[in-house]
Amino acid sequence: MAAPRTPSAKPSPGDPPALWDPVVRLTHWGIAVSVLVNAALDEGGSLLHVSLGWLVMALLLLRMVWGVLGPGEARFSAFPPNPLAALRHLRQLVSGRVRQYPSHNPAGAIMAYAFWACLAVVTVTGLVMTGGATPMQVADEKAAVASGDWSALIKESDGESSDEENSLRHTAEEVHEVVANLLLILAALHVAGVFVEARAMRRNLVAPMVLGQRRK
Ligand code: HEM
Ligand code: HEM
Repeated sequence: MAAPRTPSAKPSPGDPPALWDPVVRLTHWGIAVSVLVNAALDEGGSLLHVSLGWLVMALLLLRMVWGVLGPGEARFSAFPPNPLAALRHLRQLVSGRVRQYPSHNPAGAIMAYAFWACLAVVTVTGLVMTGGATPMQVADEKAAVASGDWSALIKESDGESSDEENSLRHTAEEVHEVVANLLLILAALHVAGVFVEARAMRRNLVAPMVLGQRRK
């Protein structure tokens, strides 16, 4: 595992990380890019869409394991979900009194848990809609249809699915779309929050999520 860049001054306890560990960075940017591509560019149900969805699922699982086994600042215990602390933090931010936290600040923590909850809903509803088909199965189905063999699709719509199954898929589709849009709203608030916090704290928050930040 790559060692973090050596900071130019000794960090004081309670300081945020000068560089998030590689797993946090990988899962953050992998999830962020996949969500934005899936929500903005891609057609729902396409091979790319389902593949990115499975990638998000894998990265999310990895991040959940890392929240228990990872280094101190990546652990859930370092940024517990605490709505009251988040409100207090936002009040302090408005009044210009900010403090540093050793991990995400309480408002950022709520945002992270909200993202993860939405991602879990979007991936589970995606799996319900596709009947759990893996990207390989979706690719095989598309290849069969492209070569003129429609039997894969006919199997899906041959009336074997019960009314309950159809209504479950329909509900999953509605929830999937609503929560995907919610993710985009959260992403806009999140990016705005990152820049507002960075300004108030007079420190670059994005650099530690990319390649690291030298301490002054
Ligand atoms: C990772 C985050 C995801 C986001 C942001 C996302 C977003 C969306 C959006 C906005 C739509 C509606 C737009 C359209 O139909 O073109 C959609 C549809 C769809 N998504 Fe996703 N999706 C994600 C993950 C997944 C996963 C994991 C799967 C499957 C394993 C999946 C399967 C589908 C399917 C099958 C549709 C088509 C629904 C229909 O028939 O209308 N998605 N997705
Ligand atoms: C859909 C897009 C995005 C999603 C789903 C997302 C999600 C998240 C999540 C879940 C965390 C917590 C990280 C962890 O502990 O693993 C986080 C933190 C962070 N994100 Fe994003 N993010 C997105 C886009 C962005 C963008 C575009 C930026 C760049 C401006 C960004 C900058 C950051 C930073 C700097 C942090 C750490 C904040 C801190 O210092 O506490 N994110 N993001």
